[in-house]
Amino acid sequence: MDMMQQRILDSKNMAELEMVRIEFFGKKGSVTQKFNALKDLEGEEKKQVAKELNLLKATFEKMFAQKKEELENIALKEALLAEKIDVSLFSNSTKRSVGHPINYTKDRIIEYFRNLDFDLCVGPLVEDDFHNFQALNLPEYHPARDMQDTFYFKDSMLLRTHTSPVQIRTMLSQKPPIKMICPGPTFRRDYDLTHTPMFHQVEGLVVDHKDKANFANLKYTLEDFLKYLFGDVKVRFRSSFFPFTEPSAEVDISCNFCGGSGCRVCSHTGWLEVLGCGVVDSHVFESVGYEGVSGYAFGMGIERLAMLTCGVNDLRSFFETDLRVLEQF
Ligand code: PHE
Repeated sequence: MDMMQQRILDSKNMAELEMVRIEFFGKKGSVTQKFNALKDLEGEEKKQVAKELNLLKATFEKMFAQKKEELENIALKEALLAEKIDVSLFSNSTKRSVGHPINYTKDRIIEYFRNLDFDLCVGPLVEDDFHNFQALNLPEYHPARDMQDTFYFKDSMLLRTHTSPVQIRTMLSQKPPIKMICPGPTFRRDYDLTHTPMFHQVEGLVVDHKDKANFANLKYTLEDFLKYLFGDVKVRFRSSFFPFTEPSAEVDISCNFCGGSGCRVCSHTGWLEVLGCGVVDSHVFESVGYEGVSGYAFGMGIERLAMLTCGVNDLRSFFETDLRVLEQF
């Protein structure tokens, strides 16, 4: 009996413990054999031996259960230790994403202009009529002020329709020279395949002493910027109109999908419109009390640039947070 107890205590794992059980209580186990031999005994002796064997069996079962629990606990602890994950460890299997295409594109734009020492400015999303329209030479009858295009609140407050009001806020709070960009959300009452009510723009404004910031500087900066963003593309300036710039231009790049030969993306024109710009209109300087200065400004839609640089053809997929789309970046 002592030997059996010792064997149980010495078992180092479940397999060894099971071996002990088989040895003593298996079909051919030594104790089982003694139970079988009971039939050959009689009277007091049979009673006595049966009592001893049952005691032995009870002792075994108790010790076996205790040892089993002990071994199972050890095995569990070992398994937990072995499967422990150190989340701070570097893993090769993790795919690194460049982030959401809009943020990625925004960051690339910021990086370019920060390298040229442009300041990063911000402005409120809920604007007043003065900053969003009036000071930008957008008179009351201008179609952009239409209820169809602008989200209005009470008291002439509105959701900014472009980032251009930040031009006004910056000029009112700083003295020239100014070199700034302002990325951020903008809002218009539009919703179709290529428009969403909220979208993002990056505004740029440079103001310096008279004749130091002119159309030639603007043209050079934007051409270089577009080559940085799109690689080797052709850039053309098309005469246009914005109330806050004069002269004004819209800038096109040669279609980076077909190389300029014409495709669906560029509506078979070979060109893609990517931003608006111009020399700051004197009325704008008047409204902020600037004198003896010149300047240029530009504005671009980040979604459009992200669609063209990341090869996304449905604007809405930017806002659907679909992991299958986002994981591609
Ligand atoms: N604010 C204009 C727009 O939203 C873009 C622009 C900015 C044009 C600055 C010229 C100068 O379309």
